[in-house]
Amino acid sequence: MNNRLPPAGNIPSLPPRRAFIRLVGGGAVLAAGLGSTGCASGLPEAAVQPWRTATAESELRRFMLAHALLAPNPHNRQPWIADLREPGRIQLVCDGERLLPETDPFGRQILIGCGAFIELAVIAAAERGHAVTVTLFPQGAPAARSLPAGTVVATLTMGPAGSAPRDPLYAAIARRHTAKTAYAEGRPLPAALASAWVEAARRHGLQAGTVTAAEPLAALRRIAREAYEIEAITPATWLESARLMRIGPDAIAQHRDGISMSSPMIRMLHATGLFDPMQVPQRGQSSLQRVMDHWTPYETGSGFLWLASTGNARAQQVDAGRAYVRQHLLATAAGVDMHPVSQALQEFDVMRGPYAAVHRALGVDPAQGTVQMLARVGYSVAPAGPSPRRELATMLRT
Ligand SMILES: Cc1cc2nc3c(=O)[nH]c(=O)nc-3n(C[C@H](O)[C@H](O)[C@H](O)COP(=O)(O)O)c2cc1C
Repeated sequence: MNNRLPPAGNIPSLPPRRAFIRLVGGGAVLAAGLGSTGCASGLPEAAVQPWRTATAESELRRFMLAHALLAPNPHNRQPWIADLREPGRIQLVCDGERLLPETDPFGRQILIGCGAFIELAVIAAAERGHAVTVTLFPQGAPAARSLPAGTVVATLTMGPAGSAPRDPLYAAIARRHTAKTAYAEGRPLPAALASAWVEAARRHGLQAGTVTAAEPLAALRRIAREAYEIEAITPATWLESARLMRIGPDAIAQHRDGISMSSPMIRMLHATGLFDPMQVPQRGQSSLQRVMDHWTPYETGSGFLWLASTGNARAQQVDAGRAYVRQHLLATAAGVDMHPVSQALQEFDVMRGPYAAVHRALGVDPAQGTVQMLARVGYSVAPAGPSPRRELATMLRT
């Protein structure tokens, strides 16, 4: 059995947080993005079909939702239920079965994903000429330290035809993908993009900035690496991700969410029982070292983009998602790639050190403000493909 990791330069696409599977006996393998299982993205055709069919919906609310479900969201959980029982409105409900209680104990990241969903719905409605009134938490916001299971996140009320101009970012919705590969080192970002990112944040009441200078960039990379290691060796957080691994085309096609793993090698090892994703890496073991070696491509790129709110109200978390997806669409339109690295922003207990460090590094006092997103930005060495999405029908309450 060859359980050596391929050299980083040969990795066509690095997967999300849980890139590696520990083999029985202590080895580790890169677990995703290495193979093709039947279509250009390496994922089963059915799982990525929603990226191609959104425009085919004729009814306005379905058209909006078919675009909204393409939103970036943590661990691709897609925690969305759209209640259509009231004509002319959409109620977005947070799906309590699709939370991340270990890595996201208060549902902050989940609500960011909901915000991205709302923003894409609004942009899609504008494409058909309809303005949307967004009312956040119409039945009240969840408490700051509870999970938003079943919360009505927003009511979307559509205005008449002709009430909104088209949004130029619409064209980028189906082209936006999170690029988890190595990026070109040090290539400058377009100057206009940095100011457009700040403006996208301001539009939703947030602050944003980029970090590209060598020293602060290196400091942020150190914090991100330490945070990733903490998440990897903490059993609860590692196992939460391990349970979301979708290995092989059948599992990917069945779930159409989570962490897709499609390489033939992984499928073979899995089928023959030669690896155990449920084994947690430990400090001092070579398997953890190998996992950390493969964090290295994430330490490439032109810099980081950060997004912060004054305070950390639930509505601000949703607004962070609205701003973030606009920033990502702006990047896509400008040919720039983005990849959130969220570990240091997570609120579980043992992450306290990196959480404080990342806020300090960005000049945000955690007593006053919250860094909502941190993403590396730049130019991916390989184009990113679409990630799976569940069918619209599975999210509807009619
Ligand atoms: C709040 C939030 C946090 C995220 N954090 C991470 C992260 O830490 N690591 C990562 O690889 N991707 C992260 N992502 C990106 C998601 O993995 C990605 O959006 C999802 O898999 C869907 O893929 P897509 O964006 O290409 O459509 C995050 C996205 C959101 C909205």
